[in-house]
Amino acid sequence: MVAWHLAFWSFTCIRLSDMNLTETNTSQELLAERIRRKTARVGIIGLGYVGLPLAVEFARAGFEVIGLDVQEGKVAAINRGESYVQDVPNSILKPLVESGRLKATADFSIVSELDTINICVPTPLRKTKDPDMTYIVAAGEEIAKYAHPGLLVILESTTYPGTTDELLLPMLEKPGFKVGKDFFLCFSPERVDPGNPRFQTMNIPKVVGGVTPACTEMGVLFYSQALETVVPASNARVAEMVKLLENTFRMINIGLVNEMALMCDRMGIDVWEVIDAASTKPFGFMPFYPGPGLGGHCIPIDPFYLSWKSKQAGIEARFIELAGYINGNMPRFVVDKIQNALNAQAKPVRDSHIHIVGVAYKRDIDDVRESPALDVIHLLQQLGAHVTYSDPLIPKIRVDGGGELHAEPLALAVADADATVVITDHTSFDYEMIAYRAKLIIDTRNAFKHFKQTNIVRL
Ligand SMILES: NC(=O)c1ccc[n+]([C@@H]2O[C@H](COP(=O)([O-])OP(=O)(O)OC[C@H]3O[C@@H](n4cnc5c(N)ncnc54)[C@H](O)[C@@H]3O)[C@@H](O)[C@H]2O)c1
Repeated sequence: MVAWHLAFWSFTCIRLSDMNLTETNTSQELLAERIRRKTARVGIIGLGYVGLPLAVEFARAGFEVIGLDVQEGKVAAINRGESYVQDVPNSILKPLVESGRLKATADFSIVSELDTINICVPTPLRKTKDPDMTYIVAAGEEIAKYAHPGLLVILESTTYPGTTDELLLPMLEKPGFKVGKDFFLCFSPERVDPGNPRFQTMNIPKVVGGVTPACTEMGVLFYSQALETVVPASNARVAEMVKLLENTFRMINIGLVNEMALMCDRMGIDVWEVIDAASTKPFGFMPFYPGPGLGGHCIPIDPFYLSWKSKQAGIEARFIELAGYINGNMPRFVVDKIQNALNAQAKPVRDSHIHIVGVAYKRDIDDVRESPALDVIHLLQQLGAHVTYSDPLIPKIRVDGGGELHAEPLALAVADADATVVITDHTSFDYEMIAYRAKLIIDTRNAFKHFKQTNIVRL
């Protein structure tokens, strides 16, 4: 046994000296070489809105990519070359699958054959607004089972600062298996903006910070092979905080402008005109717009990861709590507006037909997660209204306590409704037709900016 070790050791030394390497940087150099040559096998855990576009980008760059997901349906769809993510067209996915560059599996034993792994699993909030880390932990446990020397692991799920160092690292590091030497661990925030035709995974600058400088180096090298711009951060905590700053910035500014909308409403001022005029200032102002409330997987959730962590550090995140409170009350404000507008026509909300136009959480996307439309519909149903909706991108929705609703044909529903409420201003809606047919319009997005009808009530 000892002899075998000695033989192996001298063999390794000869190979290393041939390559001008030392024993201490073996894993790093070998991995770096595979990444540079694009012979590294890339694994992506979690094939959703973030993971699938990333997998596609690395496959397009010439890597062999293996996607891992716990949903067998998604695995099967990818292996058929069928995309379920709006930003990934079948015309791009299918050839990658057919050529063998991209495949999917639910079998985590493949990790033992991978060189790199990006974790793109969900990070929701619990009802108590505490982080739900179960998905990251589950992914970490699977990686730990099959981890091997020379593995690069990058967490991309949005999370609180310290997750990579405090949660993932202890799951992976073992005696004789040291971070920065035997394996590499980074955090890189995902900034994808679904439905944005200009900025997609490939051309959104990618921030990456490693647990050690060698980890950062490896993360930068990896992303540089497929993405246009890579921005190194000095460590994983900085990279984690970058994402939270970006999303908290948005959330608080939206909270501010929503509060501005409430003030303007009370004072009889058109908040949309105020924002447009303020936007003419060529410096020091950036427009944000009010709306029916926050939606999506990021802006309503991520800042609470930060406030949870900062509470542990003894600092109350007061801006976050306040903006969360204001934004969280916007659906209620919209319902009050609807009620007041109907009352002004001597029509009680109970038994009125209210048609919601657009339920996705933002324009031109097919995602209904955390959408304020769901809250508005729920509140209206509680008041006894008959609620219908139209959305070309969302065929059906599930509402708290109200069961399932199916999308209705827009023109017929608008003509029938006592009030038509624009929650999501998809570009494909025929606003001329809506303005012509609707009895009463409540517009939460300024979609009817250029319409002069008196039956339009703006936020
Ligand atoms: N959607 C966005 O616009 C966006 C933008 C930036 C950051 N993020 C962040 O990226 C992360 C992923 O978000 P998403 O929108 O892609 O979520 P998603 O729900 O669309 O996709 C997550 C995928 O992970 C899979 N999954 C869950 N647990 C798993 C496990 N243990 N092993 C393998 N697969 C598992 C799910 O089945 C799902 O397919 C979240 O932290 C989110 O906050 C999302």
